[in-house]
Amino acid sequence: EEIEKGGYEHFMLKEIYEQPRAILDTYRGRLLADQGIVKMAGIDQHIEKFLNANRIIIVACGTSWHAGLVAEYIFEDMARIPVEVEYASEFRYRNPVITENDVLIAISQSGETADTLAAIKLAKEKGAFVFGVCNVVGSSIARETHAGAYTHAGPEIGVASTKAFTTQITVLTLIALKLAQEKGVFSESKYHEILTELESIPSKVERTLESNEIVEQISEIYKDSSNCLYLGRGYNFPVALEGALKLKEISYIHAEGYPAAEMKHGPIALIDEQMPVIVIATKKGHYEKVVSNIQEIKSRSGRIIAIVTEGDVQVRELADHVIEVPEATECLTPLLTTIPLQLLSYHIAVMRGCNVDQPRNLAKSVTVE
Ligand code: G6P
Repeated sequence: EEIEKGGYEHFMLKEIYEQPRAILDTYRGRLLADQGIVKMAGIDQHIEKFLNANRIIIVACGTSWHAGLVAEYIFEDMARIPVEVEYASEFRYRNPVITENDVLIAISQSGETADTLAAIKLAKEKGAFVFGVCNVVGSSIARETHAGAYTHAGPEIGVASTKAFTTQITVLTLIALKLAQEKGVFSESKYHEILTELESIPSKVERTLESNEIVEQISEIYKDSSNCLYLGRGYNFPVALEGALKLKEISYIHAEGYPAAEMKHGPIALIDEQMPVIVIATKKGHYEKVVSNIQEIKSRSGRIIAIVTEGDVQVRELADHVIEVPEATECLTPLLTTIPLQLLSYHIAVMRGCNVDQPRNLAKSVTVE
């Protein structure tokens, strides 16, 4: 096992550090930026299904569901296809409306999650086209779906999902780009910009990992917290949910992810000097709005840990701590902002003496209901 950990103390840390490589492996051979195209066999062969789809329904559980939420923003923005993201366990039992013109995308690292598998079977019975995004090759979900795309993240051993999440987002971004290219409904220049920028993501993730030491220092300060709030907007709202899930899963600290603007409809009541609030406040997107959310937290004495774009000045003045990520097009920022949140939960869990790779009560793959 020590050899498998490759010198890292835990699988989770190893897998966090594998992300630059894993993301590269995910788009290798699919992203042909110099030719301005995306090639994905699973989509190319069934392109009509996607182009004629009334809507795309995404089903998943856990971290994969969060990747689905990011995909909702990307698909609607680039391909102008309505998207619904569903917990597989709710979808399968609520007599959902599914037609032959729907495309269902099932996202699953293991490809074995029972609820996701059941949702796929239901959608197939109703005549929908079912596409899988899995990591484990030859898994049940990979076999049950009509077509699919693997994430190529390599084996993920740590129960808390890390590289599976970022590679799922990468695959889903490629699919959205592919559909944008076919449909021609997205700005041509923006399309090429994202295509080119995707190629720089592995090195930007590498740079983001350099924040490890700062994150460790911050973890030391907040490791004994009983609660934690994660806020983000737009593409980074699902990242906030995922950050909170990571902390809950491995450190057993109660954490909640929220869309930053929703804070005033409830969570703001919880904010006091004991409450660490992690805010994703990168430059692109809703920066000014998030800055005003940060001011609201500050005026209630909340402790602010902000994820900001390199060189940020405004948030630095307001926050107790900042963690920088390289600048990126908004839709690609989740691939960067997620990294410090993974590291934060990792270090806090280690400092609290928790079993990082095998947290209590959790399983890597949930094959029963
Ligand atoms: C379990 C795992 C999570 C994972 C979820 C969905 O809860 O502990 O890490 O996100 O299942 O798993 P899947 O393999 O379908 O992505």
